[in-house]
Amino acid sequence: MLAMMSKPNTIKWLSLFLLVLQTTSLVLLLRYSRTIQTKTDRYLSSTAIVTAEFLKALMCIVLVWLEQERSLIRLIKTLHDEIYCKPVETFKLAIPSGLYAIQNNLLFIALSYLNAATYQVTYQLKILTTALCAVLILGQKLDALKWFSLFMLTIGVAFVQWPDEKQTESLNKASWFQQFTGLGAVLSATLTSGFAGIYFEKILKTSPTSVWIRNIQLGKGKSIFGVFFGLIIVYTMDYSIVSQKGFFNGYTTIVWIVVLLQGLGGLLIAAVIKYADNIVKGFATSLSIILSSIVSYFLLHDFEPTLFFYFGTTFVIGATFLYSYDKKKVTEESKV
Ligand code: C5P
Repeated sequence: MLAMMSKPNTIKWLSLFLLVLQTTSLVLLLRYSRTIQTKTDRYLSSTAIVTAEFLKALMCIVLVWLEQERSLIRLIKTLHDEIYCKPVETFKLAIPSGLYAIQNNLLFIALSYLNAATYQVTYQLKILTTALCAVLILGQKLDALKWFSLFMLTIGVAFVQWPDEKQTESLNKASWFQQFTGLGAVLSATLTSGFAGIYFEKILKTSPTSVWIRNIQLGKGKSIFGVFFGLIIVYTMDYSIVSQKGFFNGYTTIVWIVVLLQGLGGLLIAAVIKYADNIVKGFATSLSIILSSIVSYFLLHDFEPTLFFYFGTTFVIGATFLYSYDKKKVTEESKV
């Protein structure tokens, strides 16, 4: 029994715990920054994506340095061998990095045309696209109970984020075509999210290369694609702001913390994908959405729980228990 609580198991629970903590604080901070930041000095998401990626790469380099017993020479050699000398390996990651870059921009488009609640409710379908990709690409076995709990989780998170009347009013202001575009963008993002996550999981789990090195390789591609798509978005939507005010316009201390947390989030996601899996990650982020709403109720006072919220929370918690229920393990443990 004790042997089962080995190092990877500890890392798995630690990374899940930290991911919940990171997602919760990021949501809270974004909510808080919205209340104190005006629309005119708002930072551009396109620049934030690239900055977060850069900070993530720096954190990865520190982690590789720790892995290499804090030797600068070994760090440089590893980076040289794994990043510089293996362009094919980096190229393998061009698929998830390209997809993530597209996804970030799709979500950005979706948020411009849909209200935040509709966007978040629809985006939860990524739980199901992820599970589908896990079955099709990784050959993961999901029995009826697991599928049932995944549907329950999706409905639960959607309920938790169900818009109130005030939020649906603002949606009505967007034209039919804009709403259609927004919905198309967020639905496409659910596909890229599922596929890119599972593709990355396959790469992580089928080769011994360090997860941080993989992240740097992924980030390299994501930044290149990110800059490319970001520039298109900046050019079509924000060109005048960037040319007048510069790349880091609107980067207040809070924005820097948000960007840092986003970078850290990428690292934690990678750790969770490696030591747990993409589906479990879906449970962790769903639970943190609930957690951030509860903290928001007590601290920021900008959230009033509705009946939908209570139902949704019950569903999410129920789904988490159902999914973690392992028939075989329970019968084996009762024998011990
Ligand atoms: O919504 P979803 O769970 O697909 O979002 C995953 C996010 O995590 C994306 O923004 C992606 O860029 C980021 N990510 C990352 N590093 C990884 C894997 C994902 O930054 N290794």
